[in-house]
Amino acid sequence: MTKTIIHYFTGTGNTAHAVKMITEQLQNNGHEVKISKLKKGILPPDEDADYHIIAFPVLSWAAPVMMKQYVKRMPLSAGSKTAILAVNGAIVSHEKLVKGFTGQALEEISRILRRKKYDVFLTGNASFPDNWTQFTNPPTKEEAELILSLGENDVRQFITCFIQGKRLIYRCGSLNRIWTYLISHLFGYIGRRALGKFYIADEHCTACGICAKSCPAQTIRMSDKKPYWTSTCEDCNRCINLCPEQAIQVSVPLLILQASINIVLTVWAIWAILVYVPEWIQMNPLVLVCTEVIFIILATIALLWVCIVPIDAFFRLLLRNKKIRRFFSKSYTKGFRRYMAPGI
Ligand SMILES: Cc1cc2nc3c(=O)[nH]c(=O)nc-3n(C[C@H](O)[C@H](O)[C@H](O)COP(=O)(O)O)c2cc1C
Ligand code: SF4
Ligand code: SF4
Repeated sequence: MTKTIIHYFTGTGNTAHAVKMITEQLQNNGHEVKISKLKKGILPPDEDADYHIIAFPVLSWAAPVMMKQYVKRMPLSAGSKTAILAVNGAIVSHEKLVKGFTGQALEEISRILRRKKYDVFLTGNASFPDNWTQFTNPPTKEEAELILSLGENDVRQFITCFIQGKRLIYRCGSLNRIWTYLISHLFGYIGRRALGKFYIADEHCTACGICAKSCPAQTIRMSDKKPYWTSTCEDCNRCINLCPEQAIQVSVPLLILQASINIVLTVWAIWAILVYVPEWIQMNPLVLVCTEVIFIILATIALLWVCIVPIDAFFRLLLRNKKIRRFFSKSYTKGFRRYMAPGI
């Protein structure tokens, strides 16, 4: 019997929905299907198969960091046929459907797998409802149904190509590869962590702990009967969409305060660097520019640490006070809908 392993990550269930469709179709075609769903601590199965399928949501034109780390740990292959599906986010704007954009995500995962001797023969996209509730109001029920049915068509096409063994590789173009690579790496190292820090549970939180239990990165801890977010967030947006009380918001006061502190400290650091750079360095413009770039990068990393660790700890203490929590819970996301794929 042909053996296929499907490895996948999902935030709000779109990728899980696609994987369910793929599994059913493959089983109908006589495949033995094994599933490996990613969450913190899960390692790739230490076995090869005839086929592998990797599926993930596109987060800032890349695969989730956990997915990249997982793929890097996959064992060397003896040329197993491998297909990769990127599930991106579509929206309806002015009554028109705008499909998502995957950027370099597929190419990046393919590169890692090819180095491990997997034969990547198929890479494709499926556009499902956009789930970035932190910044965009999720689609209405009708819009979601429309996008979902089109996403399912994308998945059906992907399965057909897979079963026929068709070689089809998605390429996003050289220029798109460069800028999406840069932005996605910035997001992977810093952005996702910083964005996770702006979540807050408002006064409607019942301390049920569902958000903490279901976080795939185990980023959320319960403290003083309220969730708080550590710095390993993937920014998959599951928690904000899943909370049964819609109690998770993006804290606007926290966002403004943290951003202001960061800007003030960065400007101060740049000024200090300029003032204290020794004269012998200032004489050579090339050495001066290089020194400043290095210092600015180091200062930014140090300042981010200050914001993520000590200032964050101070905020957590402040938020124990109900009135302060209510103030910091002010957010545009209170008026946003929430989105989870059907059946999740
Ligand atoms: C932080 C974040 C970044 C995203 N970036 C992109 C993107 O670059 N391109 C895109 O088309 N969709 C993007 N999306 C939308 C998701 O890829 C999309 O909604 C996907 O279907 C979610 O799948 P899931 O439900 O399996 O998590 C992003 C979503 C989030 C939360
Ligand atoms: S899921 Fe919602 S209600 Fe439950 S602990 Fe998390 S924030 Fe509170
Ligand atoms: S904290 Fe929320 S957004 Fe971050 S990884 Fe966990 S569930 Fe996803």
